[in-house]
Amino acid sequence: MNIEVLLTETEIADEFAESVEARDLPEKFFYWTPLSIQSWKALSTRSEEALRETWEKLAAKAPDLTRGFTGIIPVISFGAGEGLRDREVLKALKVAGREAKYFPVDSSQALLEMACAGAEDDDCEALGIKADISSPMHLLLAADVSEAPRLYLMVGNTLGGFDPLDQIKHIAACVHKGDILIIDANIHAGTVEPSEEQKRFVFAPLAAAGVAPDDGELQFTARPDERLDGLHIITRRFQALRDLTIRAAAREIPLARGERILLNFRYLFTAESFRWLLTEHAGLRVVAEIPSADGRFVTAVCIKA
Ligand SMILES: C[S@@+](CC[C@H](N)C(=O)[O-])C[C@H]1O[C@@H](n2cnc3c(N)ncnc32)[C@H](O)[C@@H]1O
Repeated sequence: MNIEVLLTETEIADEFAESVEARDLPEKFFYWTPLSIQSWKALSTRSEEALRETWEKLAAKAPDLTRGFTGIIPVISFGAGEGLRDREVLKALKVAGREAKYFPVDSSQALLEMACAGAEDDDCEALGIKADISSPMHLLLAADVSEAPRLYLMVGNTLGGFDPLDQIKHIAACVHKGDILIIDANIHAGTVEPSEEQKRFVFAPLAAAGVAPDDGELQFTARPDERLDGLHIITRRFQALRDLTIRAAAREIPLARGERILLNFRYLFTAESFRWLLTEHAGLRVVAEIPSADGRFVTAVCIKA
């Protein structure tokens, strides 16, 4: 198995300790430890079901979409996770007699290993890239594994784990003439009570650092983002109910009773705000849009305008 490392485990561990000190944990830490991965898998089963039909349709279209590609098709997936959806596309290309090379890009070593192993089980060559997709430089370095035309994937509402106004511009900068980007978004469907799986998922990084559930409480807040009509953000916070010590990267970080830590946020979209972000804001052209059967997701196929 080949994995190229732009972001080391030591850098992630140091950044985790700094983030706890800053009381603000970014998205990448929610897929880092075995406990996080277990909680993520339990949570993602529901969206797997909702997106199955979309991915069957997309996989069926993949050979046609990439008809203009000559030679081996580079498939680069930003925030690939364990790559389950990506594999549908890889398998469809194989059935159509096309050869692909898979480049899952993720900060999680464990998920990257699963993505590479899965593709290799399907007889597809893979090179994992361990990188930080919130860094424009890492994105460009990952995109540079191949020249255009490339097939990019960014799915499972990965966009919603970042500031979408910034992130989509960084992604669009990687899309050149001839490239294709398949990207999806979670549709806002009113305020929904967080499930037990969601609570376990957002609490997992703190649990792995020694915090117990009754050491504090989780608070979920949903509100519109004033910058764009149709854009909504769900913030999650942990508030300590007693004085705590969090252990991270061999540091002991005190957290006083009443203090809060911002956990990872999630952006939700309307179909219109998602389309605006892709087109007017990021300068891409949407050539197809596929809503999921339950209306919770929309997946767009984009090219450079
Ligand atoms: C919402 S999951 C989606 C996973 C997968 N694409 C799917 O459809 O199931 C987001 C993925 O992005 C990765 N991720 C989060 N923050 C990241 C960062 N800053 N750099 C690289 N990967 C990141 C996570 O490890 C996770 O695999």
